[in-house]
Amino acid sequence: MIYFDNAATSYPKPPEVFAAMTKFMQEAGGNPGRSGHRMATGAEAMVVEARNAVSKFFGLKDPSRCVFTLNCTDALNMAIKGVLKPGDHAISSVLEHNSVNRPLQKLADDKVITLTRVELNAKGAWNVQDVLDAVTPKTRLVALTHCSNVLGVVCPVEELAFKLREKHPHVRLLVDAAQTAGYVPLDMDLAGIDFLAFPGHKGLLGPTGTGALLIHPRIPSAELRAWREGGTGGDSSSPHQPLELPHFLEGGTPNTMGIAGMLAGIRYIQKKGSGLGHERLIIHRMLEKLSEDKRFTIYGSRIAGDKVGLLSLTIKDRDTAETASILDQAFEVCVRPGLHCAPYTHKALGTFPTGTIRLSPGFMSTDEEADRVVEALKEIAS
Ligand SMILES: Cc1ncc(COP(=O)(O)O)c(C=O)c1O
Repeated sequence: MIYFDNAATSYPKPPEVFAAMTKFMQEAGGNPGRSGHRMATGAEAMVVEARNAVSKFFGLKDPSRCVFTLNCTDALNMAIKGVLKPGDHAISSVLEHNSVNRPLQKLADDKVITLTRVELNAKGAWNVQDVLDAVTPKTRLVALTHCSNVLGVVCPVEELAFKLREKHPHVRLLVDAAQTAGYVPLDMDLAGIDFLAFPGHKGLLGPTGTGALLIHPRIPSAELRAWREGGTGGDSSSPHQPLELPHFLEGGTPNTMGIAGMLAGIRYIQKKGSGLGHERLIIHRMLEKLSEDKRFTIYGSRIAGDKVGLLSLTIKDRDTAETASILDQAFEVCVRPGLHCAPYTHKALGTFPTGTIRLSPGFMSTDEEADRVVEALKEIAS
């Protein structure tokens, strides 16, 4: 089996991730911060260690502002619905995943906010100037992806963050790092990013059910609305959610086993280095073999250095869903066809509603696997 669907979730996970999860459940599987006994304090110590590691990894100076979430969608909803208030204007782009599109659209449909979506450029990124031009005095939030999950092109978030802070300090910037976390280094403090959302189960190599929202120290928690209220393990006497982070946004028992796995994934990357270089080389190899073949249309930049390890294409006169099914059943290759939860991107590319075939190798993928996938695609094309 060849797994080229790492943009959906990474597979396989490193053995260190399973080992850390098993060890945690055996040795410290209590409820963190809820009791004073050894199993609870052991769990709390692991959560604190994970908060410190995640914060350091992304340049967040205050680890109490690392809020653990269920996935990236959860983190994005938390920021979008926490920040936007009636009468606000928000900016996003046609490159966004539905985890950004849908919460914003709902607020716009309910007439809570007005919304502008900027277009994509020829490479497959959004333009900094288009975003700056869209800012109005009512703009409160800019919510943009660091990298489209259809095109894989890395967008200039650092440049945008710098210019937004300089020209429009009242605007908050939310970056969706679902496709770059663990691959493309990002220091949110240096860059001046207000909110960073990412999953633990893709490039960070952790299990599903994990993610985080990192909140820059310049954002007071009173500026946000709690996504959910509930038990926080601290002072239970107040009828209200405590305003201190991370408890303000973390009601309920966290996914400790998942957090232990995400921490092990980060440690693995810190030891071995991110997969970006390896996966870019695989994409480069595939681009070289497919680009000149007129039966394939490749979307977005064809320069692997512009991209994370993913590639979208269509085959002339071949249906994308059927192609993916043949790849699975006849060639044992796992890929993702269709719209990839990004309908505006496919409308902009002219590939709506059938979408593209997305190939996303991972840290364990090999050149030989890439060649077998290319051969399979060529056989299907002919
Ligand atoms: C760009 C982008 N944003 C957000 C998400 C949502 O991530 P999750 O499934 O962890 O909620 C994805 C998932 O594929 C994505 O690719």
